[in-house]
Amino acid sequence: MPTPQELIRNFCIIAHIDHGKSTLADRILDTTGAMTDRDRREQTLDSMDLERERGITIKASSVRLHYRAADGKTYEFNLIDTPGHVDFNYEVSRSLKACEGAVLVVDASQGVEAQTLANVYLAVDQGLEIVPAINKIDLPSARPDAVRQEIEEIIGIEASTATAVSAKLGTGVPELLERVVRQVPPPKGDPSAPLKALIFDSWFDEYQGVICLVRVVDGQIVPGTKIKMMSTGSMYEVLKVGAFSPKASELDGLYTGEVGFVIANIKALADARVGDTLTTVTGGSTEALPGFKKIQPMVFAGVYPINSDDYGRLKEALQKLQLNDSSITFEPETSSALGFGFRCGFLGLLHMDIIQERLEREYNLDLITTAPSVVYRIKKHDGSVTEIDNPSMLPDQGVESIEEPMMEVNVYTPSDYIGVAVKLCVERRGRQKEIKYITPQRAQVIFDLPMNEIVLDFHDRLKSATKGYASFDYRLSGYEESDLVRLNILVNGEPVDALSVIVHREKAFHKGRDLCEKLKELIPRQMYEVAIQAAIGGRVIARSTVKALRKDVLAKCYGGDITRKRKLLEKQKEGKKRMKSVGAVDIPQEAFLAVLKVD
Ligand code: GTP
Repeated sequence: MPTPQELIRNFCIIAHIDHGKSTLADRILDTTGAMTDRDRREQTLDSMDLERERGITIKASSVRLHYRAADGKTYEFNLIDTPGHVDFNYEVSRSLKACEGAVLVVDASQGVEAQTLANVYLAVDQGLEIVPAINKIDLPSARPDAVRQEIEEIIGIEASTATAVSAKLGTGVPELLERVVRQVPPPKGDPSAPLKALIFDSWFDEYQGVICLVRVVDGQIVPGTKIKMMSTGSMYEVLKVGAFSPKASELDGLYTGEVGFVIANIKALADARVGDTLTTVTGGSTEALPGFKKIQPMVFAGVYPINSDDYGRLKEALQKLQLNDSSITFEPETSSALGFGFRCGFLGLLHMDIIQERLEREYNLDLITTAPSVVYRIKKHDGSVTEIDNPSMLPDQGVESIEEPMMEVNVYTPSDYIGVAVKLCVERRGRQKEIKYITPQRAQVIFDLPMNEIVLDFHDRLKSATKGYASFDYRLSGYEESDLVRLNILVNGEPVDALSVIVHREKAFHKGRDLCEKLKELIPRQMYEVAIQAAIGGRVIARSTVKALRKDVLAKCYGGDITRKRKLLEKQKEGKKRMKSVGAVDIPQEAFLAVLKVD
């Protein structure tokens, strides 16, 4: 039996990172009785182990809940989880497409942050009803009234009566759910119209094949329905439909306005693209729903197996990861220093970190990742234009000009830190656009910044300069010509391609000097002296030396205790693990990312 449409509420929770979205989702699950004690695990909506460890939601998922409201009626809630990090904005927008409303969670002591706003804009763009909630009111530092005012002033929505909640303790959660019932409109849509269902997430399951998460806009899907993907015309028969509550449970059908999963013997994820519209083979719709933009990776890095025999396994692992994360791209690449590997594209640095960790942990690979790079446009004297995502591909000759990607960056900061935030942006070759006071205590600093300066450690620097109080988000604003050069690093006279970086000419000297110094710290002493040089073209601009090692690790043991010796050798072996021999020099993973650590 379909739930009457007026009793359905589809909503998501949006928040800045760490403001308590997952904790609130848990409490909502508790309040609606969706979880038995046996099922209870912290943060049920974050399904991957790694996510749990890092506390970041990577894959948006949805749960169906039943809520008995104060009016005595039982409502069907479809709660769609969304990630809060700027790297994953595209996942936020796709989840929003399935909703009519969004609970906006703002931390009662932190106030409105960059991603709060970025997410609210996305939600308002989709026409969602925003239900504000002020979280963590149990904290002594909570200032709910000030935060209410901030929400009104910054976001421009009525917040004087925003529900105060403690997701941790469960306080205020029933009131919040009543608001969801009252404020979020039920889904529109025509049950008797031809089927139109939007795929807003899909993933590959080893046993079931592709699982599509859909929002039924018109019509219905039941097992046995012959369906068609509107973008490709490929046809399938629906085997199962259902919802997560939070365990997967099969249903007799998915009806107008509902959210749930569809399993239809689809073999490849590429055949069930997010953003595609499902309809029926006979009497189907002729007009697809507006889809999604294809997401483009922004940051590229080389990923190489430490042991070259692992190349095949690395390739397989990347293929498997890509099945469930179509935002990763990879292409074979060779480096004279690192051998055979892949050039991988990521959404941002966090995404890159997560992928590297998953490759190492889930696929048991030892890897070296090179410094991240953005995509540059190279105009040659002959008029041709190429794009490169690897500094070592920058031609030495024939370059007319180089263009780099620019970002519009929004920094939210307490007013006391405007000065340091502006200074940082200026140091990073930023161009100031605007500084706005949102309240007397908080400001928004808007800059145009080269993306190359952001991917290198802007986030960490901003956090440390502002004692963790500032936050930022960014979006691509275009390409601009810039005076860029490639800084080559030579180890014992040999250029190490995987260490080269593209930098602004004015910064090249300092960067080169700092890099040499950093590498000197990071490259362990070897049996002989190692010279590290930084060069632009053929001109060496900086140099440092790693002194030769004379003592061996066992020297201190005076020949005595064998177990102690073994321990030391083990330790030395561990230290060697993530090293790559380049020429005759062992270079550890950290050295390849040294550029992230110099300033
Ligand atoms: P991401 O998934 O990383 O975007 O974070 P999130 O917004 O889901 O935040 P999460 O629920 O993981 O909460 C972040 C931290 O705040 C956790 O340590 C929670 O235990 C804590 N927290 C959440 N809600 C409350 C609350 O009401 N009171 C207190 N004191 N702490 C809370």
